[in-house]
Amino acid sequence: MSRTDRTPHRRRKPALLAGALVGAAALTVSTLGTASAEENPQTMQRVDNPYIGAGVYVNPEWSANAAAEPGGSAIADQPTGVWMDRTAAIEGTGQGAGRTMGLADHLDEAVVQAQGHDEFVFQVVIYNLPGRDCAALASNGELGPNDLNTYKNDFIDPIADILSDPAYADLRIVTVIEIDSLPNLITNVGSRPTATPLCDQMLANGNYVKGVGYALATLGDIDNVYNYVDAGHHGWLGWDDNFGPAAQLFHQAANAEGASPSDVAGFIANTANYSALKEDHFSINDVVNGTPVRQSSWVDWNRYTDELSFSQALRNQLVQLGFPSNIGMLIDTSRNGWGGDDRPTGPGPQTSVNAYVDGGRYDQRIHLGNWCNQSGAGLGERPVAAPEAGIDAYVWIKPPGESDGASREIPNDEGKGFDEMCDPTYGGNARNGWSMSGSLPDAPISGHWFPAQFQELLANAHPPVS
Ligand code: BGC
Repeated sequence: MSRTDRTPHRRRKPALLAGALVGAAALTVSTLGTASAEENPQTMQRVDNPYIGAGVYVNPEWSANAAAEPGGSAIADQPTGVWMDRTAAIEGTGQGAGRTMGLADHLDEAVVQAQGHDEFVFQVVIYNLPGRDCAALASNGELGPNDLNTYKNDFIDPIADILSDPAYADLRIVTVIEIDSLPNLITNVGSRPTATPLCDQMLANGNYVKGVGYALATLGDIDNVYNYVDAGHHGWLGWDDNFGPAAQLFHQAANAEGASPSDVAGFIANTANYSALKEDHFSINDVVNGTPVRQSSWVDWNRYTDELSFSQALRNQLVQLGFPSNIGMLIDTSRNGWGGDDRPTGPGPQTSVNAYVDGGRYDQRIHLGNWCNQSGAGLGERPVAAPEAGIDAYVWIKPPGESDGASREIPNDEGKGFDEMCDPTYGGNARNGWSMSGSLPDAPISGHWFPAQFQELLANAHPPVS
């Protein structure tokens, strides 16, 4: 469905409109310099890469948490993603001093922060699919596997209502659509040793694909929304068996429930993961004593060694499949810095392919499949627009210092489970080669503030935090 043949969503709060439009119009003038755009902010010009020339929203709640930590003020002004991770997050939760900001609160604040910028990006994560997180427990959500209508009516529609408020028409709204969902339908289903009953169910009932399609179609109808679909990371989809099928599934989802590939601005890799951006000391084509790097234990036949090479190749594949040729990639560099004293400064020894790769790699995980609160990880590249060909931006979508999952069972009202991958004493499963989990101890449930992890990320930042 194209942008024009749907009735634009209108928000219920006309009272906000008059005052907010003043600021919006002022921005529109400097953006476009046309009278017609000023009269109708919905005609704001779409751009290829929304990050170019734009300031990006700093979440005051994350910023306050960061600034309250020793040394944290050095990064507290960095933009991070705002997560809509349950229905209650839309309006904000809690009372009085403990109240959290809802989506409109964040957008109102974004309009304020936008003052003085020609362009301004607001980054929001859409994360509440039915049967969420089907291969893990740490981010299980509030909706059951068959709650597609609830997802559409009570989650996506209210979000669309807010995002389409004319008061926000001059913001460039970047959405990150449903982390991990479509990748799970590739690797954790059917006869794979990693299959789970819930992933099989979500594949069979089609509700991940339909939910993503509906989100793309509905949010994609809003002129100033730029949808980026989650594409896992190289240590998940970089194998030949996963890469092509994942791209096809993304294309299927982008044609489901009224969506079309033109609703997609791009894809995002490495969200909330730890995969290195660029491994400088070995490449996929290197051969050591006759053995290709692909056959090392670490790479294990993967086609890629890092996020940059994976992202650029995936972009090409997706364009070939029928996505617009100007789609761009985002890479979440919030926690893939792997700095600190142990960071290799050159290649490993050529004594064996494993010595070569293990001695040279930045990524210090025990296994590429480890994903929870990784010990030794550091902040990665600071957010920046258009850093490389095909890459729209490096972004910090996972707010550094927010846990990936509890290291033990902790009762909560968010639907979050306990995943052993977050327990540092756990010896692993088929998804991480039966390795130790590598996670930090004493972690709170996912999304909650985890000071010890924040300190670790700061200490191991690369580039370092000065
Ligand atoms: C959690 C979300 C949280 C997000 C950002 C996810 O793992 O499930 O609740 O908002 O991380 O920290």
